[in-house]
Amino acid sequence: MTGLALTVSQKWLRGEFYGFLAILHAITVIGALLYLPFGKFFHIFQRPAQLSVKFYQAAAAAGDPAVCKRCGKHFASRMHIEDLNRVLPQVGFDYRLGERQLTWQEICPACKRKSLSLAQMHLREEARGCTHLSCAVYFSAKEDRLECPCHQGFFSVRDGSVLQGPPPRPLPQITLERNGARLLAVGVREG
Ligand code: FES
Repeated sequence: MTGLALTVSQKWLRGEFYGFLAILHAITVIGALLYLPFGKFFHIFQRPAQLSVKFYQAAAAAGDPAVCKRCGKHFASRMHIEDLNRVLPQVGFDYRLGERQLTWQEICPACKRKSLSLAQMHLREEARGCTHLSCAVYFSAKEDRLECPCHQGFFSVRDGSVLQGPPPRPLPQITLERNGARLLAVGVREG
């Protein structure tokens, strides 16, 4: 752009502003040369690294497959799962499942989806079940309380404590966690 301005100055403006434009052009070029190489030179490392992904996949496919610890089916490659188990903790991700020597990586994608669904269903049942005989509990806006229609068991909406009826203990409390725009149920605390 500044190079074009130099040409315009020389051809049509009889050299008007040429000195200023020449300095501006020099600064622009030096700035671009300083900025661009860092972006472009990165390709020197990036492109060979991209090729190495293919080599990695080929080496992994030649080895043993990983066996899902839940269903016993083959998925991914054992080399890949072992590498994930080694590298993820080094970069601060801990995907161990409870106290067991088992990680989330060792579960196949289908079993991961099933586990998540089962956990959600379990949470929902825990959350909705009356502590008397497990009937579903509903919120009554009119009375501002949670009501179990089976034997007229009523609970406080504030802390789940028993207001009336046969339920022997308060409702369990769901631990919520905000994840961006979503609100996730991440645990249940017995009342
Ligand atoms: S099941 Fe809820 S009060 Fe009996």
